[in-house]
Amino acid sequence: MKIGGASTRSIWVEPDGWSVGIFDQRRLPWAIERLVLRSVEDAAVAIADMATRGAPLIGAVAAYGLALGLRADPGDEALAITYDRLLATRPTAVNLRWALDRMRRQVMPLAPALRVAHAYAEAARLCDEDVAMNRAIGVAGLPLIEAIAARKGGAPVNILTHCNAGWLATVDWGTATAPLYLAHDAGLPLHIWVDETRPRNQGALTALELAEHGVPHTYIADNAGGLLMQQGRVDMVIVGTDRVTANGDVCNKIGTYLKALAAKAHDIPFVVALPAGTYDPETATGADVEIEKRSPDEIAFTTGRTLAGDQATIALTASPACNPAFDVTPAALVSAYITNVGLIATAGQLTQLA
Ligand code: MRU
Repeated sequence: MKIGGASTRSIWVEPDGWSVGIFDQRRLPWAIERLVLRSVEDAAVAIADMATRGAPLIGAVAAYGLALGLRADPGDEALAITYDRLLATRPTAVNLRWALDRMRRQVMPLAPALRVAHAYAEAARLCDEDVAMNRAIGVAGLPLIEAIAARKGGAPVNILTHCNAGWLATVDWGTATAPLYLAHDAGLPLHIWVDETRPRNQGALTALELAEHGVPHTYIADNAGGLLMQQGRVDMVIVGTDRVTANGDVCNKIGTYLKALAAKAHDIPFVVALPAGTYDPETATGADVEIEKRSPDEIAFTTGRTLAGDQATIALTASPACNPAFDVTPAALVSAYITNVGLIATAGQLTQLA
């Protein structure tokens, strides 16, 4: 996709052939700045501090982080320490463990001298596969939008999304956004309601993406969705996810559950887009997933741009704050899962992703 007018992926190997480039998402959408990761610690801090974010991209950064770690020391002990350091960065998105397990499985049987080259090749493969899976999600989700468009006879299809499950949260295309981009490119009339997604305002990243792609959209307060659904101004909700458990429960950004409840009340399809690496058949239900608790400061302070154009952080309250970063939407509220192997109607069929 494009940012600042230039086509790019969200992660790349720098021209030196080994350090890893990402966008600093703490600075978006106000400034497009790149970060160069040169060590495991750089990768771990980037994930934990949310310089990089979004379940599939966290997995990709961790994969390259493991390669960076092996570059410093390809031995067994260092590999174990690197794996643990990266896994400890964030608890909820299962793509992190999925990517690290995949990397370790590939390099572990090799002689240490062969591990670095193999790790870089595997991380690159993982990234290419992410792009292909997200495009496949787009293809699988497109008919849902086409069906609504046909029913509406030329009026825009209104889709609500929460958080950023766009290309900035993956390697390219995004999960929830892939069907939107394909629908827009196919000429279907679309309008996207973009939840701001307090407290980190990932909706501003979704809005940036949609603006660059020319997709009509409106940025809304997180609590506006209920009213819009009640007024018949939402045709479908599409969200991404950080983990779908064996029973089909969906862990995603805090606030997702309330959107699912409202959608159910108004008989609006609530669909979840996910690639294979986000499915966690080893965890029985959403209740078994660790929900990340982030710093209360993310609630008590907010960051934006002053009229003079500088990024600034201001306090909103001095009261105690509580900041769970994700919630669990029960499978019963999910109308369908849009996946890289096609549209899945029931949680039982998710095993196709394993
Ligand atoms: O805390 P974040 O910004 O990493 O949370 C991101 C989300 O919740 C996304 O919706 C999810 O990871 C899917 S990204 C394709």
